[in-house]
Amino acid sequence: MFTRRQFLAATPVVLASPLLAADAKPEFSFALITDTHLGKTGADYVKRMTTAVAEINDSAASFTVFCGDLVDRGEVAANQKLYPQWVEIAKGLKNEWSAVPGNHDPAEQFTKHVRKETESLLEFKNYRVLCFADAEPNPGHLGVVTVDQLKWLQTRLEEAKKKDQRVVLVAHVVYHENKHPDVGWYIKDKASREPFGKLLADNKHIVAFFSGHHHCGMRGWNDTAHGIHEVILPCVSYNNNRKLDAAPGFAEKEFRPAWVRVDVYPTKLVLNYKPVGAEVAVTRELALKE
Ligand SMILES: [Fe+2]
Repeated sequence: MFTRRQFLAATPVVLASPLLAADAKPEFSFALITDTHLGKTGADYVKRMTTAVAEINDSAASFTVFCGDLVDRGEVAANQKLYPQWVEIAKGLKNEWSAVPGNHDPAEQFTKHVRKETESLLEFKNYRVLCFADAEPNPGHLGVVTVDQLKWLQTRLEEAKKKDQRVVLVAHVVYHENKHPDVGWYIKDKASREPFGKLLADNKHIVAFFSGHHHCGMRGWNDTAHGIHEVILPCVSYNNNRKLDAAPGFAEKEFRPAWVRVDVYPTKLVLNYKPVGAEVAVTRELALKE
């Protein structure tokens, strides 16, 4: 007969933790891919996007979102013929996908070739992903959200709350101010920033806001008052080492062209930095409130 102390000593700790058991396997996964920049010179960006699409198809991702700058300088007539090519490659995805325009994607090109609407949503299990266009067109690099978009977001958020869904936001430009040594590209416009910040603060079911645009690898924060994880994604075209190690938040030391697989658990999101043509190089956990 075991004494209580002997019994506890003989019981593996892992069995005593329902949290670990619940987190053993993701509820689902999805893929985020940004800044494909088709038409840019210097590398074979078509090949990088095509390879990433094939890798996503081989992964556990249940859906995919492209986070802007689909074509490089889409405002240039010669580059606009690349949108049909971009769509053809994206259509190679076996599962559902959506996209937002970046500063390189004029709204009229995006709505003509990619999607009729610049705002879209995806739903999977208890998650709702709201995709919206917040990038000023070239040569702008800042973000802006219109009154109509705020209404659209608020309505979609209220629907999500009624359905008890967690919400992920996806756009091209981040909300976080990312002051020096970052480049300071964010939703700066005062008329946008205040109401958008209030929307973030008021909707506790938003768990993360993903964006592209910075070409600085994978970088993020959750030091703002709203407490939402904000993550800048690594670009599938190219990333630069901006030497942000000492900057606030986190900055991974990995800069290969990549996409990200997000594994969704009850208590965390796990971001997997997936370099094109190589194994997952870095993982980053974002804790979720219950
Ligand atoms: Fe870009």
